[in-house]
Amino acid sequence: MESARLWIHSLLFFIFIIASLYVLDTLVISNRLTTHYQNIQLKKQPQLPLRFRSDGTFKILQVADMHYGNGMVTRCRDVLESEFNYCSDLNTTHFLRKMIHIERPDLIVFTGDNIFGSSATDAAESLFEVFAPAIESGIPWAAVLGNHDQESTMNREELMSFISLMDYSVSQTFPMDPMEQQPMTNIDGFGNYNLEVRGAPGSYLSNSSILNLYFLDSGDRAIVDGVRTYNWIRESQLSWLRGLSKRFQVNTITGTMEAY
Ligand SMILES: *[C@@H]1O[C@H](CO)[C@@H](O)[C@H](O)[C@H]1NC(C)=O
Ligand SMILES: *[C@@H]1O[C@H](CO)[C@@H](O)[C@H](O)[C@H]1NC(C)=O
Repeated sequence: MESARLWIHSLLFFIFIIASLYVLDTLVISNRLTTHYQNIQLKKQPQLPLRFRSDGTFKILQVADMHYGNGMVTRCRDVLESEFNYCSDLNTTHFLRKMIHIERPDLIVFTGDNIFGSSATDAAESLFEVFAPAIESGIPWAAVLGNHDQESTMNREELMSFISLMDYSVSQTFPMDPMEQQPMTNIDGFGNYNLEVRGAPGSYLSNSSILNLYFLDSGDRAIVDGVRTYNWIRESQLSWLRGLSKRFQVNTITGTMEAY
């Protein structure tokens, strides 16, 4: 009799435990473990290939030395005392947005010191903020690094990988080997690549690369013979540039200028 009651108690207890686990799982845990596919964000691709407009123009907006820190809390440097309280990184954002709106370029190119290490406490956050106007515009954009970009929380390779994964970015960490169709990692620096611009739509050059833009990483700092100085473009980078340039020239001469 005693043992039968004990057995029923155990069974009820067991059922209670199972029921509790079931409720916990369906109401709390599974929601947190499931990946909701609509939350996965893929990189937004710009309209490619880059090409000249029908009127024969191709407009590039070049932006350098934004020295972006933490947005509103990062004050402007080198402004009048009267402007100091009313000037922050947000003015840079405002100015860039206005320039893009006025000029409607075909490509935006950022040539270094995009973020400023000593004011940027989180490199990723600052990158999102500094490139926001370009991303909002949906216009393809490319960036290289200056000597200040890596002074925050990412090294130069991490910065370029991150930048190349941002929406509408056509930046690359390494150049593509035209023969192997693989990134050439055995080159000095991060952010060496080239972008081809094709002829106007409908023209006989519409499938050909008629302008080639080379991006080179000029490095950050260096110490030479005990003297602090800036880094420089290395032989491996020049050799890549010369090789690629020769390919384009050969193709032009033989009249087989193909986009690849
Ligand atoms: C920065 O932007 C604010 C807000 O638009 C403006 O009032 C201020 O004059 C700007 N400062 C400078 C130095 O342009
Ligand atoms: C360019 O390539 C497209 C697609 O392959 C083709 O239809 C078109 O005729 C080509 N145009 C020229 C000018 O070669």
